[in-house]
Amino acid sequence: MKVGIPREILGNETRVAAVPDTVSRMAKGGMEVLVETGAGAASFITDEEYVKAGARIVAETEALFSEADVILKVNRPLLNNKTKKHEVDMMKEGAVLVTFLQPLANIDSVLKLASRKITAFSMDAVPRISRAQMMDALSSMSTVAGYKAVLLAANALKRFMPMLSTAAGTVYPAKAVVIGAGVAGLQAIATAKRLGATVTGFDTRPAAGEQIKSLGGEFVPLEAGHSQAEDSGGYAKEMSADFYRQEQEIIRKYSKDADIIITTALIPGKPAPTLLTEEMVKEMKAGSVIVDLVVEQGGNCVLSETGKDVVKHDVTIIGTVNLPGTIPVHASQLYSRNIYNFLALLAPDKKDLKIDFNDEIVKGSVITHDGEILHKGVKEAAAKGDTAYPTGPNSRSHW
Ligand code: NAI
Repeated sequence: MKVGIPREILGNETRVAAVPDTVSRMAKGGMEVLVETGAGAASFITDEEYVKAGARIVAETEALFSEADVILKVNRPLLNNKTKKHEVDMMKEGAVLVTFLQPLANIDSVLKLASRKITAFSMDAVPRISRAQMMDALSSMSTVAGYKAVLLAANALKRFMPMLSTAAGTVYPAKAVVIGAGVAGLQAIATAKRLGATVTGFDTRPAAGEQIKSLGGEFVPLEAGHSQAEDSGGYAKEMSADFYRQEQEIIRKYSKDADIIITTALIPGKPAPTLLTEEMVKEMKAGSVIVDLVVEQGGNCVLSETGKDVVKHDVTIIGTVNLPGTIPVHASQLYSRNIYNFLALLAPDKKDLKIDFNDEIVKGSVITHDGEILHKGVKEAAAKGDTAYPTGPNSRSHW
């Protein structure tokens, strides 16, 4: 079986779907690994390192796509400006694609994949069950984003984060507030603590409280409706408008005093709830910083702007997207391991594909196969021509 690793072509993407470690695992299992020239360059991996790990470097993009039985990618397939062909059109008919497809936001790509009989799997649709943890690429990327969000905030902040006792006096620690304590939020809490801030965390799920506390943060419960905040899969549920108004009032008591606020609150498949209003930003201290990680899903802060840092009411509001791409070495390392583990599920003998379509992880993440859209939710959205799904490149696809 031939596995192809193309160079990513979306914007300034720096990540790559395989690193020498995973190439070597694939090659040792008996797979033939083709890597496009320069595919790892932005993650500081040279072609020579891939060759040493057992890969064959392919200079021609079209040759790589047309030879491979399986294509492993980071981003959804796109039109390649160099070859003037869409990546799906360059693939071998009936081949397998594994990537962050974000199918509900990319129905056109899904239809194209079906028309070419591609078996496409979306890494953002891997179910969040214990057995799939090692394939949970979204969690890996959120770990990177939560960490980096705090570094961006610390960099934009005009004061120290830790407490310092010096001969010239004492500096008190910065106050950090983290809203949403899932994967990204918990990593943000841990990072802010490491930098010496005092941290307050909010989450609608009661289970998050213990996790916040175990990282040294203060957990502020959101009383109203708290017990109904979680679905059977452990995900946050959408709450009423009244609930969000009450939540804003609770957060307001802390946001007034905060030096940094990191927001990560999201319900899969829904627009991000507004938790920081313009009034709340106005009341914040001059020079404070907000990093809105869910800016692409509408933002938790009404004033955040996708892909931009803006200063409003003397508060810096950071809406950077693709934070994992700013730490490409480790983002690629983690992602490539997730995707390798996923490939091992599709090819249990580590050599040839033997896909069990009854497997829970396969069922959850397969989008197209043999000319059909297999996924119910995606199929319904495609039939309705519904492309308004609130999503960003790192959001979880659940439907
Ligand atoms: P997650 O599902 O693990 O965490 C979201 C958390 O928000 C959950 O704990 C949930 O209970 C909580 N939440 C939901 N509604 C809330 C509310 N009203 N108040 C307080 N908490 C609430 O998701 P994960 O993996 O941590 O990702 C979080 C967000 O970060 C996602 O939207 C993802 O798209 C984004 N992200 C952004 C990146 C970037 O580069 N900008 C990179 C990676 C992730």
